[in-house]
Amino acid sequence: MEKGEKTSASEPVIRGKMYHIMLGPGDIPPYVLLPGDPGRIEAITSTWEQAEQLAFHREYRSARGVYKGIEIGAISTGIGGPSTSIAIEELARIGVHTLIRVGTTGAIQRDIEPGTLIIASAAVRFDGTSHEYAYPEYPAVASPDAVLALVEAAERLGYPYRVGVVASTASFHVGQSRPGFQDYSWSLSEKRLEDLQRMGVLSFEMEAATLFTLSNIYGLRSGCVCAAIANRVTNEFVKGKGVKETIMVANEALRILASADRKFGRKLHSISELYSVLKELA
Ligand code: URA
Repeated sequence: MEKGEKTSASEPVIRGKMYHIMLGPGDIPPYVLLPGDPGRIEAITSTWEQAEQLAFHREYRSARGVYKGIEIGAISTGIGGPSTSIAIEELARIGVHTLIRVGTTGAIQRDIEPGTLIIASAAVRFDGTSHEYAYPEYPAVASPDAVLALVEAAERLGYPYRVGVVASTASFHVGQSRPGFQDYSWSLSEKRLEDLQRMGVLSFEMEAATLFTLSNIYGLRSGCVCAAIANRVTNEFVKGKGVKETIMVANEALRILASADRKFGRKLHSISELYSVLKELA
């Protein structure tokens, strides 16, 4: 956008492109991967047969390409709910309907080894942003067909994975029970990790709750697969462990979902429909 250029304040669009992601209708396929980190777009496109960079504006770097014959896209969301909600709002307006987050997460259960994939069935809404959209009681749940497709993909590829509830926080440090600057903590941060462990929550991350809440409200399909790069009980942190695997699982899950859509012309309604698609997919 040139300085001084004018647009609508309520629906900012610049020469046909959404104001933040700088993409317009048809620019990106309806099936997209959502990493948080713009730096991960290259790692994603390197796993596709064909790839083309689209835009890079603020934290939103995008690409499109082909994975095993499926037209596929990727766009980074940046960290946390606010930037993720902007990406979803703008992607929905340009026709994207299936979104799989590929991220990293910090396990909070002792038996989750670094590198394990966490497939989120739902997310605790400590993200802040989803509260701008719905009652606190509104659940942040993944789409069942996206969860099934992610599980099937992890099984096919033979990667270790767990399925369960994650907690999406609005802060990496104090919100995830890490000490703040100069060892700051308060009553909530001191208790959060322990409380969530007792509740059976698998891990901390920062975007799934926003993605799931907005997707359910807008009738989009969403899922999330994250690599557990940290374990907060054993205090291990292994940079990048499992990230490549999350990308492969998410690619494969999108291929399954796109094939199902092609076959049924709508979202999956049953496991038998999924099985009928899987039988046809090599
Ligand atoms: N992402 C998070 O939000 N927390 C972690 O501990 C690791 C990755």
